[in-house]
Amino acid sequence: MNEVMKAVRFRHSCRAFQAGRAIPAEVLDEIVEAGRLAPSSLGMQPWHFLVAAKAELKAALAEACGNQPQIQGCSHFVVLLARKPHNYEAGSALMKEIFEAGKFPPERAAFVASRIEALQDKLGWAKCQTYLAGAQMMLAAAGFGVDGCPIAASNPSGEATAIARLVPGFPVADFEVAWNIAFGYRSGEQPVRFTLPREKTVTVI
Ligand SMILES: Cc1cc2nc3c(=O)[nH]c(=O)nc-3n(C[C@H](O)[C@H](O)[C@H](O)COP(=O)(O)O)c2cc1C
Repeated sequence: MNEVMKAVRFRHSCRAFQAGRAIPAEVLDEIVEAGRLAPSSLGMQPWHFLVAAKAELKAALAEACGNQPQIQGCSHFVVLLARKPHNYEAGSALMKEIFEAGKFPPERAAFVASRIEALQDKLGWAKCQTYLAGAQMMLAAAGFGVDGCPIAASNPSGEATAIARLVPGFPVADFEVAWNIAFGYRSGEQPVRFTLPREKTVTVI
């Protein structure tokens, strides 16, 4: 089995983390980098990852997520934010920045702008892509022996309020919270994972 498949099998949604065991900074850096390097539609990277390490911020976010115990017990709580549609209006600062940084020729830039313009649900489009980034983060984490638990954004505006209060200067109006991941190290024996049988979920012809 190769190293990636070992990580795939190691990963599970961890609900009990070792209290007080922090993820080293260099490992956390790689986990976040795995998200940053994820694929995105048209290369637009419509996301931001807010990494909460401070207890006060984690507690406020936990409250907005229904006080699931694994949030305050985790080492780092990553909020995956999706960029709101106004960022993608033709001629916006973000579009200009991406086109310049990516050295998009004018015809490619025009094509990308028209594809985004035609999207029916731009926020949904952005949110979906945060899932790819988060999946890649959890897989990278598993490669380092770090566990993650996806946490649904059951109250995105509550999380946004906590961020506005505790992360001064963060451009919260540009984003909507899509979902979250609690990261840390598993504590003790973990439950056996349940998966549907292969024939129910895979067809090869
Ligand atoms: C979008 C999403 C939201 C989730 N939200 C929660 C959550 O709020 N709390 C939780 O304990 N698990 C949450 N999970 C984890 C799932 O329950 C878990 O992935 C599923 O039961 C399969 O277990 P496994 O990840 O260990 O294979 C979420 C998973 C996904 C993909």
